[in-house]
Amino acid sequence: MWLPCGCTSKYVASSFARRTLASYLHVSGRSRCNVAAFMPEAAGLEGVSGRAALRELSVSNSESFWAAVARHRLCWSTPFHTVQDCDLSRGKIKWFEGGKLNVSVNCLDRHVHTCPERVALIWERDERGSEMKYTYGELLEMTCRLGNLLRRHSVKRGDCVTIYMPTCPLAVASMLACARIGAAHNVVFAGFSADALAERIRDAQSSTVITVNQGVRGGKVTELKKTVDTAVQSCPTVKQVFVAMRTDNPVTMTARDIAMEEEMLKEDVVCEPAVMNSEDVLFLLYTSGSTGKPKGLVHTQAGYLLYAALTHRYVFSYHDGDVFGCVADIGWITGHSYVVYGPLANGATTVLFESTPIYPDPGRYWDMVERLKINQFYGAPTAIRLLLKYGDQWVNKYDRSTLKTLGSVGEPINTEAWEWYHRVVGDGRCPVVDTWWQTETGGICIAPRPSDPDAEIVPGMAMRPFFGINPVLMDTEGEVLTSNNTSGALCMAQPWPGMARTIHNNHQRFIDTYFQPYPGYFFTGDGAYRSEEGYYQITGRLDDVINVSGHRIGTAEIEDVVNQCPAVAESAVVGYTHSIKGQGVYAFVVLKKGIDVQEADLSRQLNGMVSEKIAKYASPDFIQFAKRLPKTRSGKIMRRVLRKVVESDLEGLGDLSTLDDPAAVQEIIQGHEKLL
Ligand code: PRX
Repeated sequence: MWLPCGCTSKYVASSFARRTLASYLHVSGRSRCNVAAFMPEAAGLEGVSGRAALRELSVSNSESFWAAVARHRLCWSTPFHTVQDCDLSRGKIKWFEGGKLNVSVNCLDRHVHTCPERVALIWERDERGSEMKYTYGELLEMTCRLGNLLRRHSVKRGDCVTIYMPTCPLAVASMLACARIGAAHNVVFAGFSADALAERIRDAQSSTVITVNQGVRGGKVTELKKTVDTAVQSCPTVKQVFVAMRTDNPVTMTARDIAMEEEMLKEDVVCEPAVMNSEDVLFLLYTSGSTGKPKGLVHTQAGYLLYAALTHRYVFSYHDGDVFGCVADIGWITGHSYVVYGPLANGATTVLFESTPIYPDPGRYWDMVERLKINQFYGAPTAIRLLLKYGDQWVNKYDRSTLKTLGSVGEPINTEAWEWYHRVVGDGRCPVVDTWWQTETGGICIAPRPSDPDAEIVPGMAMRPFFGINPVLMDTEGEVLTSNNTSGALCMAQPWPGMARTIHNNHQRFIDTYFQPYPGYFFTGDGAYRSEEGYYQITGRLDDVINVSGHRIGTAEIEDVVNQCPAVAESAVVGYTHSIKGQGVYAFVVLKKGIDVQEADLSRQLNGMVSEKIAKYASPDFIQFAKRLPKTRSGKIMRRVLRKVVESDLEGLGDLSTLDDPAAVQEIIQGHEKLL
């Protein structure tokens, strides 16, 4: 049973609704201001004339800006007394203290109050043409039933619930149900293996997991419940697993498992929202860093929601009534901010895309655009690169006249892909917005038109900082680069409400990673170029993180798995340019002395290990066996050299004088040439 429930009015009519909403819905009144027409949120800011001045003020007097916006855009049960209390040198970030609110009320109840029949979710199921719509009233009912169910099963405020589900309405309701009762959620991408899932459950110390019997994607069934069964064997904290039914196929249920939809039907449709402090945890989301252990970034309630909502509205020129189609999976930050929280906070109709860009054929996205009348389409360059190879006919078959804005995220969009997206998909009339941001930033930080819907757009550039964002470029000495037409390490000089607050259970790692490299600044890990005009273009990661089909993965994570093979002495993994995926995975492997194996067999084994321990997308495209790796005299692997070799950029090998034995490089080059 897969709940598309039929209730809306029951909820609104309840005395609870009248009582609770009244206490939540005291949005401050708007004052007169000439930027009000553009940004009603900023209407309280007297004396700001025009958008440029507003952008300026958002940085020079960020407290006033964010205070006005937060008062207007969010519904508070208690107003905040302190706008911000941040000290970047210590990784201390607090916004809107004293304020109390509930994120699910902000995403659901207030819209149900005004228009319960408005469609909140359109679930574009894997099976083409079988989409299902859920109104705000229905989504609230699902969320409340689930919130009550979780409460009945002892999930408390402050607990962390792991969600391992495909992109679907019950996954969204699960996230919102956690928010409703004050529990944090930890969504784990449903493509992750049992080991990767277990590691995240353990680190988050979850006692509750929510999953589905099976996933369906690209016509293939995946055994998600079985993966959870395997994962929880090594997770002693897990006491219960809620299982929803995505397909009709029964799965083995153990004493720990609870049939989710069946139990939800027994619950009340009214669920008292927990009154949360602005800085209480909303969710953890694990992402890769330059060490082997993924980090659970922590986002909190008010600041995150505000930032997701504001960026959703202004970066994409979203208007009330638009259908917003972000095709990201909810397992990534893009799904959190632009499938769930940003659109729902704005009362939008948001699309949940369960399929792949080429299932059942390469027209899938554009058929969906026509059928669902999508106004803003937000996707990843890797999919665009793939689709352009299939040809224009798959796009032209469908009516895309509803499209107004096209967005790109997750990796650099090359000029060819940008042009095709703009010219073919958008018929040359829709702006393409290349949006730069990260799991850490909570929402989009740099995008072409954040404050001016008519501004010029340069292909392949993220361009302009969002309101309140103050990017700087640093040179290798840690000095701020003030001129234009220059490149450096991308940092942020000011905090903003959407940024992550810490790494779960490891604040020191948070400080060391983001605030210690350039004291007083947030370091993004990316390099960027600032053009003559002052526009930003992201040049790529400066650390050992690579980006495979928009999926971020630390090379150290892959090395950790490869090194677990008993035949392997050591390994080094680097990214290389891949025409579709953006980057592919290239592993150099040194075997232990005396090991005699078929390289092809061992390659298969290593690929299998990486798929099993992390996920399929992390599996190496190339494995090169080498006698030794190029190292410095102090024994550090020279990854810079390996990166140049895999790009066949031998001219760029640079200074090799610090190498322990330069002959190692020649061997590596020869091995690489043999492999190609
Ligand atoms: O290197 C940048 C790249 O993706 C990284 C963040 O990955 P993740 O936390 O998984 O979030 C992805 C979705 C927001 C960044 O450090 N990246 C993201 N957007 C862009 C990008 N690189 C170039 N251009 C972009 N628009």
